[in-house]
Amino acid sequence: MSTAVELESPMRSRVAALARAATYPRLRYMGSKYKLAPHLGTVFNEIGGTTFLDAFSGSGFVGYLAKAMGYAVTTNDYLHFPSVISRASMVNDTTLLTDEVIATICGPAADSRNFIQTTFRDVFFAEDDRVFLDSAWSHIDSMTGFERDIALAALILSAARKQPRGVFTISGDLSHYDDGRRDLSLPLRDHFRERAAEYNAAVFSAGQEGRAVTGDVFDLAKTDYDVVYLDPPYAPPTDDADYTKRYHFLEGLSDYWVGREIMQKTKTKKIPKQASVFANKRTIEDALERTFDKFKDAGAIVMSYSSNALPGDARIKELLGTVKPNVEVRMIDHQYHFGTHSTAARRSVQEYIFIGRD
Ligand SMILES: C[S@@+](CC[C@H](N)C(=O)[O-])C[C@H]1O[C@@H](n2cnc3c(N)ncnc32)[C@H](O)[C@@H]1O
Repeated sequence: MSTAVELESPMRSRVAALARAATYPRLRYMGSKYKLAPHLGTVFNEIGGTTFLDAFSGSGFVGYLAKAMGYAVTTNDYLHFPSVISRASMVNDTTLLTDEVIATICGPAADSRNFIQTTFRDVFFAEDDRVFLDSAWSHIDSMTGFERDIALAALILSAARKQPRGVFTISGDLSHYDDGRRDLSLPLRDHFRERAAEYNAAVFSAGQEGRAVTGDVFDLAKTDYDVVYLDPPYAPPTDDADYTKRYHFLEGLSDYWVGREIMQKTKTKKIPKQASVFANKRTIEDALERTFDKFKDAGAIVMSYSSNALPGDARIKELLGTVKPNVEVRMIDHQYHFGTHSTAARRSVQEYIFIGRD
């Protein structure tokens, strides 16, 4: 284990914080807010304060941006792998993965485990890559603390970058997705070395204590943060926004599927879906109402939402207004792009930022 040499002083400047956030190791994640960083940075700067909750943290980017702005940040997500990523990149102030540890993880296996090789044969990745994932875990299993978190975050990001479109809904022979991108052909072992270097470069101290929680938003104990940022799944008019279906492999990889059920009959060897009341049009209004009420004592509630989801902006404004009398809505035109096909949907949608204050 080694430590980052220079500790930086807390930075409040939006420009410096955005520059720092631009170094964040990017996970392609449904609904991630990388592109909205300048707008969110402006909003958080206007609100100020010292404590910040990113209640639906996903890729961890917004919590990291808030840390870069000088907040003491808590992140939360009901999936497990987001907390691993947030601990590695946001809670961790000083620990880096040394060249020696990276070499060990990339070297011969410490034991003969083969769970990933056998479970995901003909499902995800080539044989060599699956052997590497088992072998890397044979070393990571005996690691602890932030060192383990960075190693896992780098492994998770490696798998996500190598999987076409970054989602684990597609499996088997994916050669038709190969558009020549280096990420798709780079062996996972080499990915790991590069991703570990990216996480190492992202580690910094802002002089505040961070925390990463795994759990349902309704189970969070503390609620009176200066800023509560809500970025729930966007409930679509049809279907539902199911994160487990898309990212089940990353979720399992974050704890080696220990104690997890695998649905053997599914093509992609999924783990059971974790239902979310935010992901469905029938339950979203009640979920938002309860969430706003839960955080009514926060200094400000900031929520991201999309114009192609339910309910509409007027209804959200009304619901937020019941706990925060001053509600402002900012609209940002956003080229929403998910998928690498030339035929992939490219829709211009409005990304809303609701800001509720007393
Ligand atoms: C739109 S994404 C957040 C994206 C994130 N802001 C980013 O920039 O990457 C929504 C997240 O909410 C999580 N989630 C869904 N239902 C939840 C619940 N009931 N409690 C906590 N997290 C939940 C999902 O796992 C997903 O990571």
